[in-house]
This record gives sequence, structure tokens and C-alpha cells, in this order.
Amino acid sequence: MTSATCARDTAGTLAGQHTVVMGGSSGIGEATATLFAAEGADVVITGRNQDRLDQATRRIAENSAVHGKATAHRMDGADQDDIAAFFAQSGPVDHLVLALSSSAGSGPFAELDLTDLAAGFEGKFWPYLRILQAALPRLRKDGSVTLVTAASAHAAFPGTAGLAAINGALQAMVPPLATELAPLRINAVAPGVIDTPWWDRVPAEQREALFEGLAAGTPVGRVGQAEDIARAIHMFALNGFVTGVVLDCTGGSNLAAGR
Ligand SMILES: NC(=O)c1ccc[n+]([C@@H]2O[C@H](COP(=O)([O-])OP(=O)(O)OC[C@H]3O[C@@H](n4cnc5c(N)ncnc54)[C@H](OP(=O)(O)O)[C@@H]3O)[C@@H](O)[C@H]2O)c1
Repeated sequence: MTSATCARDTAGTLAGQHTVVMGGSSGIGEATATLFAAEGADVVITGRNQDRLDQATRRIAENSAVHGKATAHRMDGADQDDIAAFFAQSGPVDHLVLALSSSAGSGPFAELDLTDLAAGFEGKFWPYLRILQAALPRLRKDGSVTLVTAASAHAAFPGTAGLAAINGALQAMVPPLATELAPLRINAVAPGVIDTPWWDRVPAEQREALFEGLAAGTPVGRVGQAEDIARAIHMFALNGFVTGVVLDCTGGSNLAAGR
């Protein structure tokens, strides 16, 4: 190994690296924060609700067995002032993970209320862009940014045209950002169906039946867990030779039509 710039890769661990997980009080963001904290990363999770943040911080400490590495900061990713205030105090950031959720904008296209789709963009697309712009002065040049998008961007499931528009727009930006912002690395993980609190809006019985049906049509025979996506994000943060990639993490559900 000749280049000093490879030191972070060869360390093979995220220990001591400052990571911000936007949307870290639940689901995929929380699992990512837990995995990173378990490896000794210094993690800050954000979300809008202080109670949820406090509970998640406790769970992360318990589940990562590395106490004191995860702290919480309340902020609304849709609020420019909140974002500016966060980065004004954040210090340098090695890894930024964008995992905010919004369910607005889904449903059959013929009935899709376009103001709901606009709310979907306001809930995910614009916050991701605002946060990334505000984070740039704080991000270490050899750090990483991982966008959590969605396989709906190209999965062609009926009823997901709006979600495809939001997530597809984000995914389209990954390759040009990876070259423009280099050597900062920009990647995205596109989850399939993942069993997280995002699905709490669907009544439990209906959700169980839905997941069973989806699992049966998925090559790996199950829906995803938040940890499946966290492991993909971990790879993006750790592997200094990966940039400009949108990685499907779906258990193969997007291939199922060919089975
Ligand atoms: N679960 C799936 O099946 C699935 C599939 C494909 C893609 N995804 C994507 O994966 C990402 C994470 O989803 P998830 O399933 O982990 O959802 P989740 O369990 O609902 O977690 C979402 C997190 O985002 C936070 N959040 C939401 N809006 C926010 C805002 N405006 N500002 C700050 N924080 C905000 C939530 O906390 P507060 O509500 O307290 O703010 C929470 O911490 C989302 O982008 C979602 O679209 C999920």
C-alpha cells in the first residue's frame, strides 16, 4: 500500500469515524446507526420527534454494545433552518447517510392526487438535496454519502409511479454527483420491501398477508430486514473504491418475473 489516502480503507473498520444518520430514530436508519456504533463509529442520529430519538438512542446503545457512541439531534429534514443549525454545530463528518422517509405520493396513478405527490417530493427528494448541500462544507473529502432510495424507482410495481419518480430522480443524480464531488464518494442503496415501522400504517393482519405474498415471490423467500440494508450502507462507507453506484438490495424481488 503506497498511498496515504488509502489509510481509511485499510483500517477496515469505522472506529472513530463521525457518521450522521438522517432519519436514524427508526427502521433502516436505526439499524445503520446500530451497526456503525457497534464498530466504534461516533454516530449522530436525527429525526423530528425527541421521544423517538431518545428511545432509539437507548436501543442503539443496548444493541451495539458500544455505549456512548450514539447521540441524537432533533431536526426536521424539511426545514432549512434546522438543517443549517445542525451543520453549524456538527464538526467534520466522515459519513452521511440519508434515510428520511415519506410515504406520500404512492397509489394508482389515475387516482393519484398530485399535491400528495408534491408532498412526497417535499418529504424526501428536497430534504435529501438540502441536507447534502448543507453538509458539503462539513464532509471530509475522502468521506462518503449514502442515499437510501427505493427499488420502486425501476421495479415497475403498479401503484408506485409516484414513488418511482421521487426515488428515480434521486438515483439519477448519483453518478454525476460522484464525479462532480469527487473524491467524496456518493452511492445509493435501493431497498425492496423491508419490514420497518414505515409499514405501520398498514393494519397488522393485512401487512402480514402482504409480506407473506411478497416473500413467496422473492428469490430469497423473505422480505428484507433493516439490517440487510444497514450492511449495504456499511459497505459503501467502508469501501473507498466504490462510488457512483446504485445498489439494489431487494432479495431479488425485482428479478422475480423471470423465475
Ligand atoms: N421500509 C421499506 O419497505 C422501504 C422500501 C424502500 C425504500 N425505503 C426507504 O428507506 C428509507 C428509510 O425508511 P424506513 O423504512 O427505515 O422508515 P421508518 O422506519 O419510517 O424511519 C424513517 C425515519 O426518518 C425520520 N424522518 C421522517 N421524516 C423526517 C424529516 N422530515 N426530518 C427528519 N427525520 C425524518 C423518522 O423519524 P421522525 O418521524 O421522528 O422524524 C425515522 O427516524 C426511506 O427513505 C424509505 O423511503 C423503505
